[in-house]
Amino acid sequence: MQIVTSVARMQRLAKEWTRRGAAVSLVPTMGWLHSGHLSLVQKAREKVGARGVVVVSIYVNPTQFGPTEDFANYPRDLRRDRQLCRDAGADVVFVPGDRQMYPAEASTKFSTWVTEEHLSRGMEGVSRPTHFRGVATVVAKLFHIVRPGIAVFGAKDFQQAAVVKRMVRDLNFPVKIVVASTVRETDGLALSSRNQYLSAEERAQAVALWQAIQQARQTVRTSRQPIPASRLSSELKWLIETRPLARVDYIEFFDPATFQPMAKVVRGAQIALAVFVGKTRLIDNARI
Ligand code: PAJ
Repeated sequence: MQIVTSVARMQRLAKEWTRRGAAVSLVPTMGWLHSGHLSLVQKAREKVGARGVVVVSIYVNPTQFGPTEDFANYPRDLRRDRQLCRDAGADVVFVPGDRQMYPAEASTKFSTWVTEEHLSRGMEGVSRPTHFRGVATVVAKLFHIVRPGIAVFGAKDFQQAAVVKRMVRDLNFPVKIVVASTVRETDGLALSSRNQYLSAEERAQAVALWQAIQQARQTVRTSRQPIPASRLSSELKWLIETRPLARVDYIEFFDPATFQPMAKVVRGAQIALAVFVGKTRLIDNARI
């Protein structure tokens, strides 16, 4: 497995793979890898086969964090991540530095952005207004640098995967986006690098997100009529906030294909929610 830290070297490798006609897959991450990330690496390998190339990028992208968010404290452990990538069978780990990705000198400062203007607006976009601009921009850069034919994203970040798919379609990137299912702990909590921030007490209460999803499923599936979204979300908010450390940021019901909010919730709707547990903001989603 190779570790590549320079953009120019990564581009040279990518050019060589294109010349050879090799199938290349990319798994973009911000590191602090867990089994959710590693399931994407496995999926990437399945897609390109033993002769293909699997690249994992590890880059804590500053532009997708808001000014009051956790960029500086975001957990980082490159040694451990490298070992996990090696064990998972990645071929290349791409770890660019900030100055390579975002030139900062006053006269030549980075000034070009990719903004998706529809799917980015709701949910995460309300609470984190510049988040998807940062995600779309860094993912576009990674696609240009690595030139994958396939890129694998997690369903855990449902809105992000949708924004990336839209960008790829709108801007004609020759990349197929594969979305892999969410990996969960045994009690249902979705794996996330941010779970690292939770104290034991917060960790115990964080299961509220998954319980709310299951409650929504049960309510909708056992009802003969569509359930008003406002009523269902108040019930779920109440359920979640019986835990003293949990505070709901949003709970939304929408059509997973169009992202159109649903006033009445039926089977097949998507639920997405964001909840603060202590100071940590967790997100989850599922099909109802
Ligand atoms: P990060 O949060 O590190 O996640 C990297 C990828 O892993 C994303 O596609 C995410 O959806 C997926 N993932 C995270 N937790 C998962 C889980 N429990 N099960 C399955 N997949 C999971 O998302 C980002 O980084 C960044 O925004 C990035 C796309 C790398 C751009 O900077």
